[in-house]
Amino acid sequence: MGLFRGGMPPSPTSSRHAITCTLALRTMCVATALVATVSPAQAQRARVSINGGWKFHRGDPAGMTADLRYEVLPELKLRPDGADFDAGVMDDSDTAVRKGILRPYILPSGNAFIRDPARRHPRPAGNPGGDVPYVASGFNDSGWQSVTLPHDWAIAGPFITQGPYGGMGRLPSWGAGWYRRTLDIPLADRGRSVFLDVDGAMSYATVWLNGKLVGGWPYGYNSWRLDLTPYVVPGGDNQLAIRLDNPMESSRWYPGGGIYRNVWLTTADPVHVAQWGTKITTSDVSAQQARVALALTVENLAAGNASVVAETSIYSIDAADRRLGAAVAQIPPATLAVAAGGMASIDGATTIRNPRLWGPPPRQVPNRYVAVTTLRRNGRVIDRYETRFGVRALTFDPRRGVIVNGEHIMLNGVNQHHDLGALGAAWNDRAARRQLDILRDMGVNAIRMAHNPPAPELLDMTDRMGFLVMDEVFDVWERRKTPFDTHLIFKDWHEPDLRAMMRRDYNHPSVIMWSIGNEVGEQYGGRGAAVAREVMAIAHQEDGTRPVMGSMNISGPGSDFASTFDAIALNYQGAGVRTKLPTFAGFRARHPDKVIFSSESAAAYSSRGEYQFPVPGGISNPVRPGVGGDDATHQVSAYELFAADFGGSADRTWAAQDQNPTVAGEFVWTGFDYLGEPAPYYSSRSSYFGIVDLAGFPKDRFWLYKARWRPDEKFVHVLPHWNFAGREGQVTPVHAFTSADEAELFVNGTSQGRQKRAPFAYRFRWDYVRYAPGEIRVVTWKEGKPWAEETVRTADAPVRIAATPDRISIAADGKDLVWVSVALNDARGGFVPVDQRAVRFSIEGPGEIVATDNGDPTDFVVFPSKTRKLFNGRAIAIVRGISGSQGTIRVRVSADGLPDATVQIASQRM
Ligand code: GAL
Repeated sequence: MGLFRGGMPPSPTSSRHAITCTLALRTMCVATALVATVSPAQAQRARVSINGGWKFHRGDPAGMTADLRYEVLPELKLRPDGADFDAGVMDDSDTAVRKGILRPYILPSGNAFIRDPARRHPRPAGNPGGDVPYVASGFNDSGWQSVTLPHDWAIAGPFITQGPYGGMGRLPSWGAGWYRRTLDIPLADRGRSVFLDVDGAMSYATVWLNGKLVGGWPYGYNSWRLDLTPYVVPGGDNQLAIRLDNPMESSRWYPGGGIYRNVWLTTADPVHVAQWGTKITTSDVSAQQARVALALTVENLAAGNASVVAETSIYSIDAADRRLGAAVAQIPPATLAVAAGGMASIDGATTIRNPRLWGPPPRQVPNRYVAVTTLRRNGRVIDRYETRFGVRALTFDPRRGVIVNGEHIMLNGVNQHHDLGALGAAWNDRAARRQLDILRDMGVNAIRMAHNPPAPELLDMTDRMGFLVMDEVFDVWERRKTPFDTHLIFKDWHEPDLRAMMRRDYNHPSVIMWSIGNEVGEQYGGRGAAVAREVMAIAHQEDGTRPVMGSMNISGPGSDFASTFDAIALNYQGAGVRTKLPTFAGFRARHPDKVIFSSESAAAYSSRGEYQFPVPGGISNPVRPGVGGDDATHQVSAYELFAADFGGSADRTWAAQDQNPTVAGEFVWTGFDYLGEPAPYYSSRSSYFGIVDLAGFPKDRFWLYKARWRPDEKFVHVLPHWNFAGREGQVTPVHAFTSADEAELFVNGTSQGRQKRAPFAYRFRWDYVRYAPGEIRVVTWKEGKPWAEETVRTADAPVRIAATPDRISIAADGKDLVWVSVALNDARGGFVPVDQRAVRFSIEGPGEIVATDNGDPTDFVVFPSKTRKLFNGRAIAIVRGISGSQGTIRVRVSADGLPDATVQIASQRM
């Protein structure tokens, strides 16, 4: 596969076809000062959070005459059946769509990522929007809402319960919104470069400073930088104004709205390490040594040419990014000439002896390093830049799959969308970490970032925790999936967006492959393969060390489209979708030199704790009225036997994988439920696909996956619950998910039969059990020895509320969170699974209740509500400590007919 032009040598242990990519990674952040001002003497570079102090307002000023649209879009019309939207003729040849308003002014913001200088965009004269009151320093925004970023303007609702809005989560994410904040730029910063670094803003951002249009970035998922320097007036407050504009019907899931990720102000010497200007590649990795190559790019925004000396020291770091001891290697000083207004790059290399390798747990440790690059000019230090990375040998072996440092790692992965449930799209470290912890407990070792660049901090976490990541840039190319999605900007922006993501994420050791698109419409033919080749070429220019691919649900083994990719990433079709034959074997035969895996494997539906009858016999069934799905309640049965018509259940997809042992593994659709795409009931708010519900409660499927992915864990999980008053004597199947190979069910002490695990079977099932209240007990064995057992009892009436915080102390920083889970117990301490009563949360002390949820996809009570109905016996409240206010937070939970429960959480400086 001559595609890996990084010149990576084949691994001595791999097959003839294997590709060895060794590398390392993660750029970033430098000295974070505590205040928004720095003096050049104290720091060469300052990267300061400017998340605080914003004013926010939905909508444009009344009577605004300026047209601040990015481009003119056709009118969006409701279809006559009211079920969906249309936007008339609208493909890329439609000139009305492309008639830019602000587009010519925004396009230059992507110039640094356009390789061919002739294709870069000149900035037209003029200052659009300069006379709009909201951009003016003197505008009185005291009536606007005070917000701290990250902020999602739509998550508080209300839900839009009627109409065709299910896809986007029935939350009001579309329309315009404005953010304003002042930046205090001291006089001492005169002559320095000042950059605005936005990790993500949804979407079509346009930025003005002191009333002057600076630029913007349309794609809501990418990170971007604008150079504020020409517009800055040092010596006081500078007025920043950001307008965002989300089109309706622009997404297949909930995109969120607003500046939903972190925002930074970076000040630096005009001669500095460029944005994402370090690229670290490791090679020749062994226990004895690793070669570390650094490609360093320096930008010179000063008036004259510059000559700088660059040197880099490498340190080992711990999980908290602290340096461990002295430098372990050094890239010696080298001189670099950078012309005024330009950039220049220099390559350096060194060797780390006895490297601490980065690798996925449980058998490896995700060790990391930091490279500290120092720039000197005339002997004076002018910049210091840190790049975190890892050292690992990564091999893609078509016959075996993914091999990290010699260990074959089956991809036990999940897809994840970007929302954090009831917190919406607003990035929060703790919420993301909680998701990863829950997934890791299930045995997940790989995450696909569906279908867009994630928050940069999420990749820091996957680095630290040792997940393997498929980093993905687009859900659509030129062909749309929804009327106003990113097909509108693909032509202009695919190169900047793809290069920006890859440069930002290159240094992350957790990123093992790139996806340039998910199920793009180009699969269907036409110029699809040509577009794929063009996008692939860009990706290969950015990275010659990792495989690049697109996920395919339609393109077959012999298609030109499929042949463009470095690896074969299949959505559903590998295992065979209902009416089509499985394609794993066909792809294997046609692509003997490529790794094959499922980028989307199971597409199963279920509602946590919801059991419906009759239970069909197959291992994967479509949801039909009365079979698997309830048309009245819009819930899907949790027997975990139901799947989208185009997909399969876990059991079905595993059988196909196991019959095709060269398949490198899978990414399930999805790990967590997410907002939007509530198939099969588009009247709902959130998905049914997750293994874990939107509130973070595992569905039964969690244990099905855990049994396969953590086979050494001793457990058996039994379903359903055993509280079916009124079903006495009726057939009520009992299923068990376990890592054991033999199981026996007892109903009220009577054996229902002992079973051995059959080939390609992944659950034990007793389908003809008749319900009688009491208890069901499953006893298991593995290799003939007792393994685990579980008893499920019919619960009595609830007598108490059980409220459990996931942590008992948090940081009083206004960001850290606690999840308080609520369930009801009967007098014997058993969980009461069928209760749907409302619980009320109240709080005392230095904390606030940010949101509540229960994982019910049909619940339209707004997330900030302090009252939440239990959904099949469970609910959560998400509690945040107030910034700077320490003390004991007390959360009280009450419900009709039961005594209150209270939990205490210490909020403290950490
Ligand atoms: C896939 C798609 C995902 C999601 C999923 C639902 O086709 O790539 O984004 O829509 O189906 O199963």
